[in-house]
Amino acid sequence: MQRRISLIPQPQHLADAGGETDLAALGAIVAPDPETTGLAWLLSDLLARGTGLRLSVQAAYDGPAVRLRLEGPRPADLTTEAEAYRLRIEEGGVDLTAAHPDGIARGIATLRQLLPAGALRAAPAARPVVPRVAIEDAPRLRWRSVHVDVARHFQSKDFVLAMIDRAWLHRLNVVHLHLTDDQGWRVEVPARPKLTETASWRTETVVGHALAEAGFDGTPHGGYYTLEDLREIVAYGRERHIMIVPEINLPGHTRAVLAAYPELGTGHGKGVATTFGVFEEVLEPTEASLAFARDVFTAVAEVFDAPFIHIGGDEVPTAQWERSPVAAELMEREGIAEVRGVQAWFTRAFVEQVTALGRRVIGWDEILDGGAPTEAVVGVWRNEAYVKKAADAGHQVIASPEPYAYFDHYQSESADEPLSIHGLTPVEKVAAWEPVPPGVDPESLLGVQCQLWSEYMPFARDVEYRAFPRLAVFADVAWASPEARAASPVLERLEDHLMRLDALGIAYRPLEGPRPWQRGGTGTRGRFDRPFEEHPAE
Ligand code: ACM
Repeated sequence: MQRRISLIPQPQHLADAGGETDLAALGAIVAPDPETTGLAWLLSDLLARGTGLRLSVQAAYDGPAVRLRLEGPRPADLTTEAEAYRLRIEEGGVDLTAAHPDGIARGIATLRQLLPAGALRAAPAARPVVPRVAIEDAPRLRWRSVHVDVARHFQSKDFVLAMIDRAWLHRLNVVHLHLTDDQGWRVEVPARPKLTETASWRTETVVGHALAEAGFDGTPHGGYYTLEDLREIVAYGRERHIMIVPEINLPGHTRAVLAAYPELGTGHGKGVATTFGVFEEVLEPTEASLAFARDVFTAVAEVFDAPFIHIGGDEVPTAQWERSPVAAELMEREGIAEVRGVQAWFTRAFVEQVTALGRRVIGWDEILDGGAPTEAVVGVWRNEAYVKKAADAGHQVIASPEPYAYFDHYQSESADEPLSIHGLTPVEKVAAWEPVPPGVDPESLLGVQCQLWSEYMPFARDVEYRAFPRLAVFADVAWASPEARAASPVLERLEDHLMRLDALGIAYRPLEGPRPWQRGGTGTRGRFDRPFEEHPAE
């Protein structure tokens, strides 16, 4: 039988030795280093679940085995060297070696894809056989993340865990949780109880596209993660060597905050937003607003162990500050010439607060507009010109340029596509993305991120339709070298990969178009187009 080894992302070097190895002939999973014991048990669990094979984990064992070995000098965290691994599958067993446990985690993800797709099912549905190969692999980019917006539409904790597992399978290394926005606050902050009593709930949601004026659904929506939920999410990521980065979006996108604590704004809060867009309400630049931010960052730093906290900072209108005596007084006192500088004042304060908590700030690219401390990492979303702007200003960059990385965009021009915000980002466009823009020092580009803004994704299956299979293609763009991508175009590997998504029960978009129940139809979930223009190059 002709077999095809088809992996996403494509490894840097893959040699097919021919034949296959039956893991049932092996006696154990051997993990001599305590740092890999957890990964070894995770692999043992996954094999048991999908194939019925039960291998115990041992620190030492002489017979044929799956061996996880750390060797060589330890690279720093968040480097391509930390995630490099070698995977050799021979008649006598499986050898997975890396210099850092992160590399072992990535190698296990590859091993999962080498098993039959049925091994990804939740009960034994495949034999534990893998092709004999020699793989040497390392990512092209250090930071490869998926952003999940649980603010516009709250998603269950189980869905977040599932997305972490899917990130792992695709050798991503970060899940960015967009936890707060105008339409809802999703994280428990013990010092600020009204965030979960009030800011987490909205009375109803606009029906259809916010610009189509089709009324409201009259149905409350909301929810939040408790500190225990968040600890579980973080631990689930840690087990898979996936960093969970929390985003607290300030000082704009704060309608929900101001519904709970109107005194942080002008006092005329309009309630948690029930529709979508950019709203005028912002935090007033006061000590009370900074104290609020400190309480929130402190709570977040207690449950999230990532070395980064995302402070948002996108789409902050200045209209309120232009009218505000408090802002005028601040500008006078601090010598701020333009009202845009008020955001820069917030950004500096947030950087100080987050730094004091031992973490590093990430902010959306608008933080550049009034100037931001260079230690802040910039999440560039508007377009690639801002990647260069941020890098030239001395920042490290995570790029999620809207034309390629916004998976809330439409996936085709078909009238059958379900309601989406705007834009057109088909899977072919993602596949053609060159993630390092010309003229940008690759050292400044920490990596890339795909984004799943959820205004028009009320349920998990809606998120899955937008995420898959584009996320798989994105993972290839982020991980694989240009040479590997050219030698094996990702779209040629995608059909095989869909069997894995089927095994996982993911409601992905078939390549030929939506399934009947995924279509928008002619109702309020039907396609609505509005002109979309890319942000002009700066
Ligand atoms: C964004 O899309 N406003 C970051």
